[in-house]
Amino acid sequence: EQDKRESLYIVSNYAAKFYADRMWNSEDGKTIGLSYFKERGFRDDIVQKFELGYSPDDWSALLEAAIKDGYQQNFLEDVGLVVKNDQGKIYDRFRGRVMFPIHNFTGRVIGFGGRTLKTDKAVPKYVNSPESDIYHKSNVLYGLFQAKKAIRDLDNCFLVEGYADVLSVQQAGVENVVASSGTSLTTEQIRLIGRFTKSITILYDGDAAGIKASLRGLDMILEEGLDVKVVLFPDGHDPDSYVQKLGASAFKTHIEKAKKDFIFFKTEILLKEAASDPIKRAGVIREVVESIAKIPDAIKASVFIRECSGLLQMEERILISELNKMRLAKA
Ligand code: GTP
Ligand code: MN
Ligand code: MN
Ligand code: MN
Ligand code: MN
Repeated sequence: EQDKRESLYIVSNYAAKFYADRMWNSEDGKTIGLSYFKERGFRDDIVQKFELGYSPDDWSALLEAAIKDGYQQNFLEDVGLVVKNDQGKIYDRFRGRVMFPIHNFTGRVIGFGGRTLKTDKAVPKYVNSPESDIYHKSNVLYGLFQAKKAIRDLDNCFLVEGYADVLSVQQAGVENVVASSGTSLTTEQIRLIGRFTKSITILYDGDAAGIKASLRGLDMILEEGLDVKVVLFPDGHDPDSYVQKLGASAFKTHIEKAKKDFIFFKTEILLKEAASDPIKRAGVIREVVESIAKIPDAIKASVFIRECSGLLQMEERILISELNKMRLAKA
């Protein structure tokens, strides 16, 4: 069993090296793959740090190279790098895509994300490796291997949505950044971050989906006993597009200026939705207290109750009695 997993790591590492070699050393790799990254503003050192690559637009480029180099087809199948169709025909999963190897936090390659270069909406933008004996997407964070030292040193972790966000934010010199790529944030991922820091700052996309995911994420993070702040980006921007357009120092300034404690973030978002409707405003109070009720530390919770009382102009004792009701209901 252990031997099999080792074989899967080895074949995944082989594939990462193959995709990188094809990007740097083949004609189509350079003109299609590498130029794509350059056009998006990624420097060579970042492309190398993350071992990015290019999968040739061919049905069996990886398969043939791997077999020739002595790797077994069944291991390639087990990690989903090659796929067998109903007729038993074998082909490469990733074709004509720029490749993002996914590492576990010890640095071994366990899977891939591959981005299309086409703008055709019918083509999925990203294809990811399927689950395998070495890749369980719910407990992996993209970029953690490259970020973990900075996360520990800075005692904070920035959480973004996508691969490109991780690259651009790292390139801006902000190295404590990871993405929950290919899945919505899980409890396992939060616990993994919790091994390096107890403080997370969410930097999701500035769209309705990003706001919704931030609200969901902050409750999950509070429940795990970690501190959480949220930074919103102007509508239509994600961290990657923002930093590529406005530069590293504007990006860092934005983070400092727009960073909100979860309670301010949630209150502001919900109050905006409720406008002046008194029944909806009462609902806002309940929802904010609900988030506070998730905080395991009672002292921290009481500090937030005080803040919340100021923000919502609601007496502290009413909020406390609401909080206690929720705590009892949960127990
Ligand atoms: P770019 O266009 O390259 O900047 O990608 P993005 O990361 O900004 O994409 P988006 O915000 O749409 O999605 C965020 C993350 O969700 C991506 O990095 C992927 O991990 C994942 N994702 C996006 N599109 C797809 C898709 O079509 N299929 C799958 N499986 N995952 C996707
Ligand atoms: Mn397993
Ligand atoms: Mn988005
Ligand atoms: Mn995005
Ligand atoms: Mn993007």
